[in-house]
Amino acid sequence: MNDTNKADVLLGLQWGDEGKGKIVDVLTPHYKMVARFQGGPNAGHTLVFEDKKYILHTIPSGIFHKGCLNVVGNGVVLDPFIINKELDQLNIPDEELQESLFVCGKAHLILPSHRLMDAAIENKKGKLKIGSTLKGIGPAYTDKVARTGLRLSDTATPEFDEKYDRLKQEHLRIAKDLGYDLRELVLDGLPFDDYEKAWFSGLERLKALPRIQSEVFVNEALDKGARVLAEGAQGTLLDIDFGSYPYVTSSNTITAGACVGLGVAPSRIGEVFGVFKAYCTRVGSGPFPTEILDADGDRLRDEGHEYGSTTGRPRRCGWLDLPALKYAVMINGVSRLIMTKADVLNSMEKIRVCVAYKVDGESHDVVPLSAGQQDMEPIYEELRGWNRPLDDIHTFEALPQELLDYVAVIEDFVKVPVDIISVGADRKEILIRKGAGILQRLSVV
Ligand code: GDP
Ligand code: IMO
Ligand code: MG
Repeated sequence: MNDTNKADVLLGLQWGDEGKGKIVDVLTPHYKMVARFQGGPNAGHTLVFEDKKYILHTIPSGIFHKGCLNVVGNGVVLDPFIINKELDQLNIPDEELQESLFVCGKAHLILPSHRLMDAAIENKKGKLKIGSTLKGIGPAYTDKVARTGLRLSDTATPEFDEKYDRLKQEHLRIAKDLGYDLRELVLDGLPFDDYEKAWFSGLERLKALPRIQSEVFVNEALDKGARVLAEGAQGTLLDIDFGSYPYVTSSNTITAGACVGLGVAPSRIGEVFGVFKAYCTRVGSGPFPTEILDADGDRLRDEGHEYGSTTGRPRRCGWLDLPALKYAVMINGVSRLIMTKADVLNSMEKIRVCVAYKVDGESHDVVPLSAGQQDMEPIYEELRGWNRPLDDIHTFEALPQELLDYVAVIEDFVKVPVDIISVGADRKEILIRKGAGILQRLSVV
C-alpha cells in the first residue's frame, strides 16, 4: 500500500458558487482522478473554455480532460433525468464515457416523487422557506438516513420495481397530507407522468455507465500512486452540521464529507484547497451578515453575473466576511486558498471587508451561532479599490498594489496563503503566485 499518497480536496468556503468548477477544471491536468463526494443536482458548476460554457450538476468537473477518471462517489444523490441531460450536453461519445465516468453503486437515487416531496415541504413552510433548489435533495437524503432509500445498485435486483413503487406511493401519500396537489406539479416543464417516463429512460443510461464501489476504486488508485482530487459541492456555510441551520443543504459539504462520501480515511487526505469569492453571495434564504441591500449590491450582481447556475435565481450579494472565512478554514483544515472573481471588484473605488460582528453591543470575531442576522451588525474595514481592469495582467505579482493589499489583509486574518487568484470565468484567466506551495504539490515548479 502506498501510504504516502493522499487525496487532495477542493471545496467552497462560503455559501456555494465560489467558482469550484472552474478551479477543478484548471487543476485537473495535474490529477488522474476527480471525485464528487456529496450533493447532487442542486450543484451547478460552470466551466468556460474555447468560448463555450458548460454547467455540470452531478458529473465531476474533470470530465473534459482526456485520461482523467471521473468518480461519482457513494455520498452523492443521483437524478437519472438530470444526469441524462448533462450527458447530452457534454457531447462526449458513450464509448469514451465508459473509460472516464464511474458511478458508485452505493449512491442513492432521487426519485421523481422526492422532487414532489421537496416542493410540498417547501410550500408548507411559507415564510420559513429555505429557498431549496427543489431538486429533491433533502427528501432523498432523508430516505437514505431513514434507511428507506434506493441505491443505484438496487436497480439490478428483481425487487426494484416493487420497492420503487412502494416508496413512491408513500411520498404521494405524504405530499397529499401536506395539501399538495400532484396535478399542479410540473417538473422541468413536464407533467409528473411524462417526467417519470423520462426518468426511467435516464436510469437505463445511468445503469450503463461503469459501476464501482468508490471506497475500493479510490483507495486502489491512491495505492497505485494516482493523484486524486475530491471536488466539493455547495459550500461550508451550507453544511448540514456547521452551516446556518436550518438554512442549509442536506449533506456534509466539508472536508470530512469527502472521507464519508468516497470512503477515504481521514489520514489519507492531503492538501485542502479552499475556494472563496473576493466578496460573498448567497442564493436562497438564511442569515447573511454582510449582505448589501443598496445599489452596491445590485452592482456586484450585475458585474459578477450573479444568477444561479442551477435555478437562474438572482444571488444575494455582500462584502467578504472574514470571521466566516476563518471559521470555514478551521472546519475544513484548509491549507491553500484560492480567490475567485477578483475582477468583479474592478470598478469599486472602496472595498469593505467584515472583520468582526457587533452583537448586543459587544464585538465578536467568531461567527456568533445563536444570533440571527437582525441581531448582528458587521464591523467593516474599508480598503482602497484598484479601480482598473485586470485584463492586461498576466502574473500574480503584477496585480495592482491595492489588490495585493486586499490579499494581505485576508491572509493576515485567516493565516493561510492565497496561492491562486481567478480574474475571469475562462479557464485561462488564472494567476498562480510564484513559489506558491500549490505549485510544489502539483509538481509544476
Ligand atoms: P461553483 O458552483 O462553485 O462551481 O460556481 P458557479 O459556476 O455556480 O458560479 C461561479 C460563476 O462565476 C460562474 O458563472 C463562473 O463561470 C464564473 N466565474 C468563475 N470564476 C470567475 C472569475 O474569476 N471571474 C468572473 N468574472 N467569473 C468567474
Ligand atoms: P454549488 O455546488 C449555491 C442552496 C439553496 C438553498 C439551500 C438548500 O453550485 O455551489 P437544496 O437544494 O440543497 O435543498 O437547497 O442550499 N444551495 C446552493 N447554493 N450553490 C449551490 O451549489 C447550492 N446547492 C444548494 O439555494 O438555499
Ligand atoms: Mg454553483
